[in-house]
Amino acid sequence: MIGRLNHIAIAVRDLAGAAAQYRDLLGAHVGQPQPLPEHGVTVVFIDTGNSKVELLEPLGANSPVAAFLAKNPSGGMHHLCFEVADLQAAANVLTAGGARILGDGTPKLGAHGKPVLFLHPKDFNGTLIELEEIPLHRQGTRAVPNDPR
Ligand code: CO
Repeated sequence: MIGRLNHIAIAVRDLAGAAAQYRDLLGAHVGQPQPLPEHGVTVVFIDTGNSKVELLEPLGANSPVAAFLAKNPSGGMHHLCFEVADLQAAANVLTAGGARILGDGTPKLGAHGKPVLFLHPKDFNGTLIELEEIPLHRQGTRAVPNDPR
């Protein structure tokens, strides 16, 4: 069902500081900050060639990332995102198999403007999993930071 690992998301307290660390210390290709108020986060994408890292900083009063940082004060891995060709077909298989989809169960537009779903971390070894719908012919192609696909 799942395709490529699209990104690993890291919750951070200081987005500018974390982005500068990846750029200056690790020599990574770091994109520009993108505020996503509907998700309660500002994101910076880092292109690692084979995948991406998504830095997440809380935005607004009810950010889910603020709650995560309250439990993990130093920051940490927030979720993994896998590509799927057909999000609704994946959701049907997962719910039939007992996995829970967060929220009302319907896809939302994610950071790349593509439909996404999140799966309950308690059903996946304590790891929050995001599924992003990427048409098969686009999977495995290399993305440029902030040229979301
Ligand atoms: Co994500």
